[in-house]
Amino acid sequence: MAQLVSSWSNGVQSVPKDYVMPPERRPGDFIAVCKEIPVINLQNDRSEVVQQILKACQEFGLFQVINHGVSEKMMADMRVLYDEFFNMPIEDKLGLYAKTYGKGCTLHTSGINYGKEEVHFWKDTLKHDCHPLEEHSPSWPDKPARYREEVGKYAIEVRKTGFKILNLIGEGLGLTEGYFDRVSQEQYMAVHLYPQCPDPSLAMGIDGHADPNIITFLQQDQYGLQIQKDGKWMGVDPIPNAFVVNLGYTLEIISNGRLKSVEHRVVTNSTASRTSIVTFFAPSPTLPVSNELPVIIEPAKELVTTCNPPKFKSFQYKDFVADYLAFMRKPRPRDGTPLDPYRF
Ligand code: OGA
Ligand code: NI
Repeated sequence: MAQLVSSWSNGVQSVPKDYVMPPERRPGDFIAVCKEIPVINLQNDRSEVVQQILKACQEFGLFQVINHGVSEKMMADMRVLYDEFFNMPIEDKLGLYAKTYGKGCTLHTSGINYGKEEVHFWKDTLKHDCHPLEEHSPSWPDKPARYREEVGKYAIEVRKTGFKILNLIGEGLGLTEGYFDRVSQEQYMAVHLYPQCPDPSLAMGIDGHADPNIITFLQQDQYGLQIQKDGKWMGVDPIPNAFVVNLGYTLEIISNGRLKSVEHRVVTNSTASRTSIVTFFAPSPTLPVSNELPVIIEPAKELVTTCNPPKFKSFQYKDFVADYLAFMRKPRPRDGTPLDPYRF
């Protein structure tokens, strides 16, 4: 348990050696918030919203949404709940603690493989599945006492917004209606706490990566998230009550490369801790109509023609995730991306 950064970092004067990044992995010069990252009002005219989302997905692989349907109260309740959760005495979190990112509900420090990391990230993460709720919520924390009820409601609302946006993306791409209902059923959450850090120039919250799944929704309360565009890092504005929406590798593949996944990372802060509440939508292993037929991920048939042949191979998502995790465990600097073996 001693490993949870939040359990020992309060008041430390310097970054412990095993959290000091080698120079090439440090955040570098301060990076300001970039006001060009699109902020899309979901209540605007539908066809306008479709065009804005598509453009953002092509140029940035990321955008923010406001008026998205999840109430401000619900988002505020989540902030209060997770503040309470992370501030609970250590004994109350012990049962969830695991050394590595894993199945079920786990609370861990740093990345997916603490024991094998050369250097650790300045964060603690609570992670669990969300869909279907009845199956997973019994494994969620039972403290604070309202956890399962409140997070259950939040998961349902974020799911509605998630599919709304996936459908808008599908419409923009020209996919068959309901395309994403068939491929994406899985939903899981990671809630990260990045405690105040005595020297943000030496540590990292999360290293640069793109997510493996289809699309990710992020609620944040402080600056810290940065994305890479045209080889440069830029800061994502922490707009209260907005969701940051970012594209994962799977959507890049489905769109046959028309939409881009986005490389992102998190830097730490010396004056405030940061909490991000992240919801991932991912392909389900099997089709919703049949437990036996596997979902195959590939460039959508609607987007492939003889003039525009598939740029990626077909695969089962679980195989891709295994390759992705193996790639992420390789020491940095790494060549290429997890997408490379899947390209034609
Ligand atoms: C992630 C991630 C960013 C953040 O969980 O994959 O990139 O701001 N999180 O916590
Ligand atoms: Ni990510």
